[in-house]
Amino acid sequence: MTISLSRSMQGYGSDFIRDMFIAARNPDLISFAGGAPAPDVYPLEAFRAASDRAFEEWGRTMMAYDGAEGVLALRELIASQRMASMGVNCTAEDIRVISGSQQGIDFLARTYLDEGDTIIVESPTYLGALNSFNIFRPNYVSVAMDEGGMCMDALEKALIANPQAKLIYTVPEFQNPTGITLAGDRRQRMVDLAEEHDVLIIEDSPYYEVRFEGEKYPPIKAFDTYGRVIYLGSFSKTLCPGVRIGWACADYEILDRFRILKEASDFQASTVTQYQVATYLRDNDLDAHMGNICKVYKGRRDAALSAIQEFFPASVKNTRPDGGFFIWLTVPGLNATTMLPRAMNEIGVAYVPGESFFAGAEHSCNIRLSYSQMNEAKIREGILRLANLIKN
Ligand SMILES: Cc1ncc(COP(=O)(O)O)c(C=O)c1O
Repeated sequence: MTISLSRSMQGYGSDFIRDMFIAARNPDLISFAGGAPAPDVYPLEAFRAASDRAFEEWGRTMMAYDGAEGVLALRELIASQRMASMGVNCTAEDIRVISGSQQGIDFLARTYLDEGDTIIVESPTYLGALNSFNIFRPNYVSVAMDEGGMCMDALEKALIANPQAKLIYTVPEFQNPTGITLAGDRRQRMVDLAEEHDVLIIEDSPYYEVRFEGEKYPPIKAFDTYGRVIYLGSFSKTLCPGVRIGWACADYEILDRFRILKEASDFQASTVTQYQVATYLRDNDLDAHMGNICKVYKGRRDAALSAIQEFFPASVKNTRPDGGFFIWLTVPGLNATTMLPRAMNEIGVAYVPGESFFAGAEHSCNIRLSYSQMNEAKIREGILRLANLIKN
């Protein structure tokens, strides 16, 4: 074929995410690679019953086009339940339904980035966001993190050194890949810095409600009196990822761009699914469901942490997440990328090498372990095998 790719597609993309999905399907592999919620905790029966009721109540309305903003009943519930319980005051007008929070990242990249534009990211950051941003070939400025998340002094320095920066991208709760949460007292400061330096903050928080211990902080959006924060939420980690329903909460000017992009890309999120999710939210207690499933995730995290402590040498450092799905390992002297094929072929264990999560220079001694999808015995066995391989 002689049809050339568009300039933006040339050299763009990797097969990494596809390969991880394929690896996760192999039942013989102990996979710490995928970042998905556990199928055994999906609320299958409650969601099926809600779907039946939704069809009884909404009938053909549910099967029709609705509009790019998202179904009103769902937006009202997102505002009055999900955002209100986090401490963000908003109404359905401030919410747009999107096909997962991933689509929100993509829309914001399309809205604000041209080639060479500067975006500030955490170091490390979410691989899927880098994927969405990369097509625009931006200039990344990576800001260091510590156990309290992105360091605000380093952020301030980055903003001063890069006055043309447009966006800050952050995953403040149980970050993918490190599991770290942004300290409560850094949130107001981040918003104030954004105002001072005239940038927008993308607060990508699909794990916000997956907290199993520790102090709960309001989202950065709750401190946003300037209209500078775009909050991206998702039902992927609370309900199930197959619904492909997420939302953006932001000022009208920004959300109206979402409407235009939604109309251009897929018109709207599925009306059927939006009514199913709305009926589920109306008739069930999602907080109670989260309380139950967080016990499962906490058990898995505990199993991973105790196996790490038992089997890895003391020189290996790990994060200790209070929620979400990820632990970040730092193994001095390791090349986690070159070890991966050996881990998969020789010991039947998969993980994601840390290198994939850095926008800039390569850091290859890190491993992202996801504990969400396996039972505790499998987690322990996988970490034991990994520790033996590393020691060898
Ligand atoms: C930080 C982060 N943002 C966004 C997403 C995409 O989630 P969704 O299923 O809502 O599109 C993920 C998925 O793993 C994620 O980890």
